[in-house]
Amino acid sequence: MSAILKETALNFRPMREADLPEIMEIERSCYQHPWSATIFSDCMHAGYSCWVCGKGGIIEGYGVISVAAGESHLLNLCVRGISRRQGLGRKLLRHLISIARRHDAEVVFLEVRPSNDSARQLYASEGFNELGSRRDYYPRGNGREDALILGRAL
Ligand SMILES: CC(C)(COP(=O)(O)OP(=O)(O)OC[C@H]1O[C@@H](n2cnc3c(N)ncnc32)[C@H](O)[C@@H]1OP(=O)(O)O)[C@@H](O)C(=O)NCCC(=O)NCCS
Repeated sequence: MSAILKETALNFRPMREADLPEIMEIERSCYQHPWSATIFSDCMHAGYSCWVCGKGGIIEGYGVISVAAGESHLLNLCVRGISRRQGLGRKLLRHLISIARRHDAEVVFLEVRPSNDSARQLYASEGFNELGSRRDYYPRGNGREDALILGRAL
């Protein structure tokens, strides 16, 4: 009898407080200036759409988007380091955009570091355009880095 290997399905669900230890482990390994657990908690309490995606009970990525008055703002999008380049970031981004659409957002905005080539390529390939920049927006080493502001009509 031959063994049949089934790929574990990717699923999306709303983020819970109980996810924070696992999320913080990923967050700290992915960003030099990670969000704190309190920021994620505040986002959940503020009613932002906070989602995790995972396979077989393991969180592989997460994202946070706020929607109000017809506008949405992507605040975080992150995929576990060892799980990148498998299409998860794109699926997560599309999922968050579908949530924004469902809440009647007509546009989505985000900030990204100019040095973040992988994220910039992802956003460009999903139809985001560069709208401007915010000076000294991000901490970087002892100094600051500008943010690019990207946007896309929904
Ligand atoms: C940005 C990020 C979410 C992408 O996640 P991912 O699961 O690797 O992305 P995908 O596999 O879905 O790739 C989608 C596209 O992104 C681009 N991309 C992703 N990684 C890339 C890399 N290392 N170099 C160049 N382009 C890359 C490509 O255009 C890719 O499409 P392709 O595979 O058809 O070429 C991930 O790199 C990440 O979590 N980075 C750290 C956190 C972060 O910077 N978040 C964004 C903050 S604004």
